[in-house]
Amino acid sequence: MKKVYIKTVGCQMNVLDSEMVIADLKRHGYVVVDTPEQADTVLYNTCSVREHAEEKIYSALGKIRKEKEKDPTKTIGVMGCMAQKDQEIIFKRAPYVDLVVGPGQLHTIPNLLEKVSAGEGRQMSVSLSRKGGSQSVIARSHETFDPLRDPAMRPTPFQAYLRIQIGCDKFCTYCVVPNTRGPEQGRPPEQIISEAKILAEQGCREITLLGQTVNSYKYRHDDATQTDMASLLEQLHPIDGIDRIKFVTNYPKDMTERLLETIRDLPKVSPYLHVPAQSGSDVVLKRMKRGYTVADYMEMFERIERILPEATVSSDFIVGFSGETEEDFQKSIQILERCRFKNSFIFQYSVRPGTKAAERLPDDIPREVKARRNNELLEVQNRIAKEDNLKIVGSTVDVLVEGPSKKSQRSNDPSVMQMTGRTHCDRIVVFDGNLRQAGQFMKVHVDDASSHTLIGRVQTVEVVSIGGLS
Ligand code: SAH
Ligand code: SF4
Ligand code: F3S
Repeated sequence: MKKVYIKTVGCQMNVLDSEMVIADLKRHGYVVVDTPEQADTVLYNTCSVREHAEEKIYSALGKIRKEKEKDPTKTIGVMGCMAQKDQEIIFKRAPYVDLVVGPGQLHTIPNLLEKVSAGEGRQMSVSLSRKGGSQSVIARSHETFDPLRDPAMRPTPFQAYLRIQIGCDKFCTYCVVPNTRGPEQGRPPEQIISEAKILAEQGCREITLLGQTVNSYKYRHDDATQTDMASLLEQLHPIDGIDRIKFVTNYPKDMTERLLETIRDLPKVSPYLHVPAQSGSDVVLKRMKRGYTVADYMEMFERIERILPEATVSSDFIVGFSGETEEDFQKSIQILERCRFKNSFIFQYSVRPGTKAAERLPDDIPREVKARRNNELLEVQNRIAKEDNLKIVGSTVDVLVEGPSKKSQRSNDPSVMQMTGRTHCDRIVVFDGNLRQAGQFMKVHVDDASSHTLIGRVQTVEVVSIGGLS
């Protein structure tokens, strides 16, 4: 048995990719081990979105060097977005790496590993259809690849990611993703639906549909008809066993009335929308080439409020983007105050080689200013989230229980089992419970709240006697 260790950083796409690569390797006789020391093959599934994410991997590679020196037969592989972006640079910076594989070529890993162990030397596979391959080749490789799934790799057995869209064509000036993931392509709806059915048969109750701009999903059929996100949701909704459908990440310009009405009319679809604003300043948005103004974003936001009054909305922000003045930054605080997002992921701008911003716009905001703006925005976000969460105290929410909370996992006392789960609107809820509740929907009464968490207790279920039977 060959032993593989995999370390995954980055977004949900990478989590899903790792799941598929492991499923593929298991079919080729590999078992998964928990540490790089135990493994014959060590794989890093990497992210390039910010410099920090890359540094983490280069530092892990620095550490693995010693292991490789001790045991030169150990195979070291770098896959994912950094493999795509850096290619040969990885071999230069870490000459002991044997394998570099981009996100469009993950299905080649078992074969390339065989070549490495046959003594054929370093292997690299990084073609993406934007760089000359045909779209149908990519689509076909995914057709055969995505359904190879490994339930054991999922965060829980009853939740899974399902890719509906590959790549991105938006080319925001700061962003490396279109270069690392290639052109935007919707997967054929038939494939998505059959994969969702397989997931349901495997016991999956919640699926999260993935795409960089998931609500822009489109698939053009041979007869020239088109399936969009709304009709895809309509087709997924009837699948037995799937009780909740979420999707990330949304692009503000494509949040149509019809999509919002579809979400409203389909009870399994979560009224939770992650729609990054990125900035509250028109000048910055323009420099980012996001394709909308603050007024456009607010119009979209009001559309959500009108059609889905119960929905929660979350956002991403970049602080310290090229030329961002204090006034621009204050406008990000203002949009946050106006929209009162459930949560926001806040990032300090990081120049990415190969992007338009790296070529044309100076990285002129000092590190300390970026850090201060980050903290300031986070403080406002946390205050808002806490205020809004406190409004839920006293009500009862439906929770899909995921498992023991981090606190429980750290505790040595087995009688204290704090469980965690999420509401339909993606709010995190913790409560005292037991392991048997994992994978169940429970009604939880909310007693208290912080900015990130609702704290509650399972509502007592009253047993009602029916027809005189006691
Ligand atoms: N497709 C998604 C986001 C993918 S990247 C979307 O468009 O919303 C996730 C987040 O990382 C982005 O929303 C953005 O806030 C942040 N990000 C992307 N590139 C970045 C960079 N160069 N520096 C800092 N943050 C960045
Ligand atoms: Fe990057 Fe913009 Fe595409 Fe999101 S929409 S992945 S931020 S280029
Ligand atoms: Fe990172 Fe690639 Fe995802 S750059 S955020 S792993 S698409």
